[in-house]
Amino acid sequence: MIIGVVTRNPHGWATKELRKAIEKLGHVPFIFRFRDIIAEVGFPARVFVKGCDVSSLSAIIVRPIGRCSLEQAIFRMDVLHWIEDRGVYVVNSPSAIEIAVDKYRTLYLLERAGIPVPKTVVGECCEEVLKYINDLGKPIVVKPLFGSRGLGSFRVRSKDYAWRVLSDLAFLKHVLYVQEYIRHRGRDIRVFVIGDRAVAAMYRVARSWKTNVYLGAKPIRLYPIPQEVEELAIKSCRVVGCEIAGVDIVEDRERGYLVLEVNSQPGWRGLQSVTPFSIAEEIVKYVVSRVRR
Ligand SMILES: Nc1ncnc2c1ncn2[C@@H]1O[C@H](COP(=O)(O)OP(=O)(O)O)[C@@H](O)[C@H]1O
Ligand SMILES: [Mg+2]
Repeated sequence: MIIGVVTRNPHGWATKELRKAIEKLGHVPFIFRFRDIIAEVGFPARVFVKGCDVSSLSAIIVRPIGRCSLEQAIFRMDVLHWIEDRGVYVVNSPSAIEIAVDKYRTLYLLERAGIPVPKTVVGECCEEVLKYINDLGKPIVVKPLFGSRGLGSFRVRSKDYAWRVLSDLAFLKHVLYVQEYIRHRGRDIRVFVIGDRAVAAMYRVARSWKTNVYLGAKPIRLYPIPQEVEELAIKSCRVVGCEIAGVDIVEDRERGYLVLEVNSQPGWRGLQSVTPFSIAEEIVKYVVSRVRR
């Protein structure tokens, strides 16, 4: 079968891993960038990439949508919806990506499903958000609603400083996403879920409070995965609708495991470095089994 991979950077490590895995398992990769997509309407409606009608692909694996304008983000998602509507298996589905990219939407769905999450306040008005500062304790964590790789998140202790930055962010029309700080001592857990299996997991150990591998955290294999962690990760993915995802989990001394977010376009280079089998091959095997089903 022909398996598409749509990505921001076709030369990225994960995309190369997928290409190798697709070929090794006897299929044909078709790698393309979001910006190569052309959508026709009234010709009749088709979506093309370099002369190839995308609805002829068996499946499309969605890799990072990348930093883009609101218009580009919406267009990219529109096209994925269109492709899915034509019966192509798109993973993760655009609806799941839309949920997972939004930290607030993810968190309220997780909480509604009974999954423990950190106390979080979201709003547009600095004064209203700041009323919660005592409930959240010190420091507070401020994050971009649509952020990734730990970029742009920061901690604030002082109420004055919080007021300055939050009022500036609100002035610039950002949504304020403020969270209690969980004292995790520089370590959290990343679980990689494929379908209904947690295929691999690692501790991410950092000198900083942000444990993203991108920021230099060290991966340490977590094996076997504790059953509670495994169940939490799988359930979190199911709640947001992701079939392939990286779930970030922190440990709180009193409350136990709390889910921070579900990454719908996860990288796995750090995790691969401590995993004895190819994660890309697991992804491709899963995709093939889903198409055949
Ligand atoms: N509320 C929090 N308390 C303590 N550490 C946090 C909190 N939120 C995030 N972190 C740390 O920052 C990292 C990045 O936060 P996360 O919510 O996963 O966003 P991103 O999309 O940027 O990865 C987490 O892996 C964790 O180490
Ligand atoms: Mg994260």
